[in-house]
This record gives sequence, C-alpha cells and structure tokens, in this order.
Amino acid sequence: MSERRVAIAPSILAADFADFGREVRAVEDQGADMIHVDVMDGHFVPNLTFGPQMVKALRPHVKTVMDVHLMIAPVDPYIDAYAEAGADILSAHYEAGPHIHRTLQAIRGHGMKAGLALNPGTPVEVAGPVLDLCDTVLVMTVNPGFGGQSFLESQLEQIRRLRAMIGDRPITIGIDGGVDTRTAPLAAAAGGDMLVAGSAIFKHGSADDPAPYGEAITALREAARP
Ligand code: DX5
Ligand code: ZN
Repeated sequence: MSERRVAIAPSILAADFADFGREVRAVEDQGADMIHVDVMDGHFVPNLTFGPQMVKALRPHVKTVMDVHLMIAPVDPYIDAYAEAGADILSAHYEAGPHIHRTLQAIRGHGMKAGLALNPGTPVEVAGPVLDLCDTVLVMTVNPGFGGQSFLESQLEQIRRLRAMIGDRPITIGIDGGVDTRTAPLAAAAGGDMLVAGSAIFKHGSADDPAPYGEAITALREAARP
C-alpha cells in the first residue's frame, strides 16, 4: 500500500484557453502524469467550455494520457465523437442519465477506458453494480461546473467507502475539485490514486514561464506521498 504513487492530472480548465497546445506541453514537460479535459455543456452544469472538435485539436499535443471528463447530458450520442477525438479515458456522470450501465459499456466498446464520475450528493454505493465496467471512478470533491472552489471534506468518508468497495480490483480512484497542498494528503490517505488540480497548478506561471507549474506539480505529489 505504501508503494502507491499518486498521479497528478492538471485540469486545463484553469489554463489559458487561447493557448491550450502550449499549456499542455508546458505541464507535461514539468511532470504532469496526464491531462484532465473538462467538457461542460451549460445544461448538466451551469457552465460551458468546449466540445469534441477542440478535444481533437488538443490530441496531438498530449503525450501522456488524455483524460476527458464529460459534464454533459445526454452522453451517449457523443461517445463516438470523443472516441474519434482521441480520448484515452472518457468519464461520464452517474447523474447524467438513466442508463449509466449502457454508457460505460459503450465507452469501452469504443476502445476507451471508462470512467464513472460521481457528484458530491451521490452515495458512492451506486457504483457497486457497475464497478466492473469501470477503469476509474472520479469522485467530485466540489459541485462540478467551476474551478477554484473549496474541497468538500465530507467526501473523504465517501472516498474511503469506495476504496473498500473496490478491494483489490484494478480500478483507480480520481479526485476532482479543490485539490491543493492542504487537501491532497487528505484525498490520498482516503484512497485517491489520481488527483486533478486546476487552479493549484495554473495559478502561478505560464507557458512562457513554466517552472512554477513544475513546482506546483511536485508540491502536490510530495504532499500526497504516504
Ligand atoms: C470542476 C472540474 C474540475 C476543475 C478543478 O467542475 O471538473 O476538473 O477544473 O478545478 P480546481 O482544481 O481549481 O478545483
Ligand atoms: Zn474535472
């Protein structure tokens, strides 16, 4: 257990929207393990970002893993488009529709890893019947829609319960929202394998001055070390 290494996934929601390609290269050069791409539809969440064409344009810039977090409803009509865009991991929200089982099957059927995202108000126990269709479960530690919100510590108990439910199955737990050097150790100790961080990484530095990105990534990884 003490050998667990926590992965750090910068969320480009906090990056320069006019310069995603260089921002992605900068955080990867500075040690990011994967790139978290937040897709919002202005309907499932009260904010709007971008769609599959943008994700496809980003693909050649991502050398690690492109982790696409869909905050959209419905999901199923767009799975094809995100597979075509080159997502490695595609996460859909449990709350986005009545047929999460079908959605997860379809994501895997398109050759991507399947992620199940859970809002803070959703008990992690709903994941039970579909866990074996998941490569990862993304536990939201804020209400989705915006960066820069405060980490909901009430989710720590949920992360612990999910970790126990997973047991020794090869399913990772991602933690998304409000991750910083104070909350990263809490999230990791509760069972998080992957930490998404937007503002904590992009708030200092830029693609022209990327060293602060690296310092922030290292600080999060160190803070999360068991
Ligand atoms: C929230 C998004 C997160 C967001 C995290 O709806 O899913 O990925 O970018 O941003 P921070 O790290 O600033 O809370
Ligand atoms: Zn996200």
